[in-house]
Amino acid sequence: MPNKRIQIFDTTLRDGEQVPGCQLNTAEKIEVARALESLGVDVMEVGFPISSPGDFHSVQKIAGIITESTVCALSRAVERDIEVAAQAIEKAKHPRIHTGIGTSESHIYDKLKSTPEKVIERGVAAVKYAKSFVEDVEFYAEDAGRTDNVFLAKVIEAVVAAGATVVNIPDTTGYCLPWQYGEKIKFLKENVKGIDNVTISTHCHNDLGLATANSVAGVVNGATQIECTINGIGERAGNASLEEVVMILRQHKDLHYDTGVNTRLLKSMSELVSSKMRMPVQPNKAIVGANAFAHSSGIHQDGVIKSRETYEIIDPLEVGVDESSIVLTARSGRAALNFRAKRLGFDVSREDMEYYYEEFLNIADEKKVVQDQDLIVLFSKTAVKSA
Ligand code: KIV
Ligand code: ZN
Repeated sequence: MPNKRIQIFDTTLRDGEQVPGCQLNTAEKIEVARALESLGVDVMEVGFPISSPGDFHSVQKIAGIITESTVCALSRAVERDIEVAAQAIEKAKHPRIHTGIGTSESHIYDKLKSTPEKVIERGVAAVKYAKSFVEDVEFYAEDAGRTDNVFLAKVIEAVVAAGATVVNIPDTTGYCLPWQYGEKIKFLKENVKGIDNVTISTHCHNDLGLATANSVAGVVNGATQIECTINGIGERAGNASLEEVVMILRQHKDLHYDTGVNTRLLKSMSELVSSKMRMPVQPNKAIVGANAFAHSSGIHQDGVIKSRETYEIIDPLEVGVDESSIVLTARSGRAALNFRAKRLGFDVSREDMEYYYEEFLNIADEKKVVQDQDLIVLFSKTAVKSA
């Protein structure tokens, strides 16, 4: 069975950059955009040009530089937004305008003070207007996660007929459970005329920690584009994390999906975004966290030393991490201590190891993590240095 190609739409420079304190200047945005292109993302959403002159300028610059990935600009379903977005991406080799409107009851009545009929009219008009500037127009139904599926299907059918090439189904508030989000995509697949001629996109937020799971549920039910960010950064609890969705599709060969991402660049991409945005990555973050390939308990260390696969489902090299690490703490065992001794060039006999292990535990209780320097001092006491 051939693999199905899933498009990766990165929105680090738009949804990700909305995080308070994470705003980047144009030079920084260009650096991140170039790195995203090397990473192999299919689409990069690089800003919301109407929002500020600085954002307009950054989008315009990036549009003139990036040649491989599609460059996308966000707009509301407002003519002026669309004109400014179109102007900003005028020079892009592959331009896309992303326009849309809220479709849930709360968005229609409370935010927009409108009606369902008028929302459909505005969505259709926005897509038609965007089509007068570019061929590739993506429509988002904001808060689709809490939108009634029958009404959502009506909206999507209308914007597809108006010429949308991609339809984005955002779970804007991160409310859906994976099977609900999956059913939503399936419902659209089965009930919207013309849906097979367009790309269905997922856009999941992480308010309940389900953004990645929901994105995968969307794909399994027919979506072929995932919107995500590096390190999962984004509004509130963030967006689906690019490194997580990409590695899930790659590791689960049984699902038969592919992306164009060069996974060996994931770790350096994560570090770049973290440092530019001054946003540390939590140590236990899947794939790119400092502890993602670190083993500290004696049982796990013994297993990993015998065979990496006992406690690792990903080869760290695949994501650009040089090797798994054995962290020596008071929970570590003799196997890990002996392994580290050998690496440091000390040949420790079984009898000596008993003495060293007792000493090691005392140091570990005091220092929490035992460093190589501590071990060199310890083993130098009486151990024989190997040739
Ligand atoms: O979360 C959301 O609904 C969005 C849209 C603007 C696509 O970010
Ligand atoms: Zn979003």
